[in-house]
Amino acid sequence: MNSKKILGIDIGGSGIKGAPVDIKTGKLLEDRFRVPTPEPSTPQKVAKAIKELVKHFNWDGPIGCGFPAVVQNGMVKTAANIDKSWINTDARKLFKEATKLPVWVLNDADAAGLAEVKLGAGAGFKGAIVVLTIGTGIGSSLFIKGKLYPNTEFGHVEFKGMDAEAYASDNARKKEELDWETWGKRLNEYLSHIEFLCWPELIIIGGGASKKLDLFKDQLNLKAKVVPAKFLNEAGIIGAAMAAKVNIKKH
Ligand code: BGC
Repeated sequence: MNSKKILGIDIGGSGIKGAPVDIKTGKLLEDRFRVPTPEPSTPQKVAKAIKELVKHFNWDGPIGCGFPAVVQNGMVKTAANIDKSWINTDARKLFKEATKLPVWVLNDADAAGLAEVKLGAGAGFKGAIVVLTIGTGIGSSLFIKGKLYPNTEFGHVEFKGMDAEAYASDNARKKEELDWETWGKRLNEYLSHIEFLCWPELIIIGGGASKKLDLFKDQLNLKAKVVPAKFLNEAGIIGAAMAAKVNIKKH
């Protein structure tokens, strides 16, 4: 596959966003287009939304898709923030059949991490990096020497007797109407726990919360350097396109 332009799509708990991406620079080639995640977010309904994005961009090239769950070779294995009927659905096959285009599907936080580690806030850094996307849930990706260890699910470590994302996600902040300071303290506790488990040297914060880092950075007190994602909330779109470039030709 020689294409340098790939349609990147980020399927999230509340919105499905996409744009054609120049995978060499990470630049979005057109304005991002967003459709709300359908309710219920069943495979058929999400596939319909993907078709809508393809139609919007009049797209007929390869597609990379970040998905908010564990994904192994296109097969969805978990469903924390998406309809449970996704479990054991072959998302890649479904989207390929729906769009008649070549598709690659991977975990959304792995996608965001790839964009950041190759072209963004972690570019050139060879040490251990954890990327956390903080939005509806908490997504994670883990890198060493720029290489991804896929499908880490640090948002689901047990913390204070609950799923960590129920305690420290942006959704938890909104649901419990926490001010930024209170929530920032929670995030710091959670990040300290992640440090205790895997000792990253750099933590990159992506997802919706990355745009608001100024409002809670004073609450963060960690050993690792903490930085916002360079591509902010667009990292998932960019990384999904980058992953498609590498993987579509291989499979
Ligand atoms: C899912 C992860 C996903 C994250 C962010 C979590 O609930 O388990 O796979 O990366 O949400 O969407």
